[in-house]
Amino acid sequence: MENVLITGGAGYIGSLLTPMLLEQGYRVTIFDSFLFGAMPLLGFSRHPNLEIVKGDIRRPEAVQEAVRGQDWILHLAAIVGYPACAADPYLAVSTNVDGTRNVLTAMERGQKLIYASTGSTYGKVIGIATEETPIAPLTLYGRTKRDAEKLIRDSDVEHSILRFATVFGSAPRIRLDLLINDFVYQALHNRQIVLFEGHFRRTFLHSTDAAAVYPFTIKNFERMAGRIYNVGDSSMNFTKRQVALEIKKSIDFYLHEAEVGTDPDQRDYEVDYSRLKTLGFSAEVGLTEGIRELIKVLGVLHLPNLLRNA
Ligand SMILES: NC(=O)c1ccc[n+]([C@@H]2O[C@H](COP(=O)([O-])OP(=O)(O)OC[C@H]3O[C@@H](n4cnc5c(N)ncnc54)[C@H](O)[C@@H]3O)[C@@H](O)[C@H]2O)c1
Repeated sequence: MENVLITGGAGYIGSLLTPMLLEQGYRVTIFDSFLFGAMPLLGFSRHPNLEIVKGDIRRPEAVQEAVRGQDWILHLAAIVGYPACAADPYLAVSTNVDGTRNVLTAMERGQKLIYASTGSTYGKVIGIATEETPIAPLTLYGRTKRDAEKLIRDSDVEHSILRFATVFGSAPRIRLDLLINDFVYQALHNRQIVLFEGHFRRTFLHSTDAAAVYPFTIKNFERMAGRIYNVGDSSMNFTKRQVALEIKKSIDFYLHEAEVGTDPDQRDYEVDYSRLKTLGFSAEVGLTEGIRELIKVLGVLHLPNLLRNA
């Protein structure tokens, strides 16, 4: 049985990924500081092959202890998104960059790393973003993820880097700062969406597909090692207006188009996913199905602002 360490395993993606790996027969250790509590783990905490460690990725000794004896390190722990990083830049850099350095330092020969990066590393792109497109992130969040990527690529650790699209959908730890989740929440609870940069092209991936790419990468690691992968699906590139209109098919709300804001990451481009697609990965959950699920879940969830990343 293979041992997998998931840093940030109690988070949005991690709380879906952990039970998926347990079901597939891996022994899983979650290493997390529990910024958002441990509730997301309660649905599967009884599993005999699950260990839970409360620890801080910024502490080298704690990381070293957690990494020891693992076969796979799935490194997800981070301060996620530009608002959260801008709110505490020191925390963002020490967690996202220094934390990654701690993981690399702790890793031993033979252990393999899969790193959760982001499309926010690209910055403003004209045309289609491929893995070869030069990255020029515009926000601190994007820069911390770029710097972590570089540390990994410059190391001699065996690795794959996954650059995720914007994830949406439900999870034991739900996030409401993500575009589609936020739109559905606003439509349900405020009966309006204020839409700016509606023509901006964005790229999305359902949360279960974001989790599913990890067992896929583990199984295909020999073919995927040493490379960067955009993680998403060409069928999931939409403008913000298209997303709002899709939600409107199911919820009656007022779509207020006004140029009152701007995306600091300036994400307005299509992303090419052929590198991952060629290996056999494609998203299973589409926009309509994911929105239908969110309406069910967010309709009965009225979360206090505290639980929002933004
Ligand atoms: N969700 C998305 O749309 C998306 C898109 C692109 C990339 N990613 C990347 O995927 C990863 C997971 O994102 P998520 O959406 O699950 O975010 P999340 O905020 O839900 O999860 C992050 C987890 O990291 C933990 N953490 C934070 N600081 C820590 C520290 N110092 N020590 C230990 N644990 C710490 C948090 O407690 C949390 O459980 C991140 O690296 C993120 O950059 C996510």
